[in-house]
Amino acid sequence: MKPVRKAVLPVAGLGTRVLPGAKTTPKEMLNIVDRPILSYIIAEGRAAGIEHFVFVTGRGKEAIEAYFDHHIELEAQLQAKGKLDILDAVLADLPKPGEMSFVRQMSPQGLGHAVWCARDIVGDEPFAVMLPDMLMHAERPALAQAMDAYKQVGGNIVVVEPAPAGETHKYGIVALDGQDGRLNRMTGMVEKPPLGTEPSNLFISGRYILQPEIFSLLADQGKGAGGEIQLTDAMVRLMALEPFHALEYDGVTYDCGDKIGLLRANVAYALQHPELGKAAREAVTALL
Ligand code: G1P
Repeated sequence: MKPVRKAVLPVAGLGTRVLPGAKTTPKEMLNIVDRPILSYIIAEGRAAGIEHFVFVTGRGKEAIEAYFDHHIELEAQLQAKGKLDILDAVLADLPKPGEMSFVRQMSPQGLGHAVWCARDIVGDEPFAVMLPDMLMHAERPALAQAMDAYKQVGGNIVVVEPAPAGETHKYGIVALDGQDGRLNRMTGMVEKPPLGTEPSNLFISGRYILQPEIFSLLADQGKGAGGEIQLTDAMVRLMALEPFHALEYDGVTYDCGDKIGLLRANVAYALQHPELGKAAREAVTALL
């Protein structure tokens, strides 16, 4: 079984649901308590053994590349003023040389198209996809849980969780070949099914492990839900050739591409923060 070394992070989206904030700050760079969303995503990937992150980026998202590079003047100032704890925080997310690649998705054509843009950098090996909108809080990081499942059953892994009632039409939904525990063989998948037609209540929550054969399928994948090239549709075709398992992970997901999801994530992460937790609890309680 080939190891999963690379993760594809689609970050070209416009952040429509969190405008106007996301007009000049990429939505992936919005802060959750004391660091940007992407900082948590990279930490999750590294904890799962990812060695190389491939960002599929786009116009107006230059702040992402800048964040993962030195800021010489800022670092010199922090050093000169002795603010070493802040300097450490600023340096913590920097990549090792060569640990990150950036490729442009030149027009928004859907998640499937975004993943396809990473094909040459990923090459002929299994890889992870991490949707940075979805902040997944778990004792054992969500992608590490997916890696455990991959080591057990191989093939392709899709992390899922139960959708809130009446919300299945907003997501990719999986069909299972029976349910026994958290890891189950899949029989189908559908992107944004009309309410009442969903094959289960389990939605695709933003972490995948995929085999490289997905790329040739994405190359000629037609448009699907919303007129976009959907990763889900290409995965359905790959399922005819290779096994897919759905992993119901153990953790809590916050959709940070959404105003209330972003708020929930900020409050939840603040309450659990080792240094800020107590003050956060007092501040939140005072508001109620
Ligand atoms: C994408 C995927 C969908 C998944 C969702 C999770 O949809 O296509 O299958 O459930 O992310 O956030 P999008 O949110 O880009 O519409």
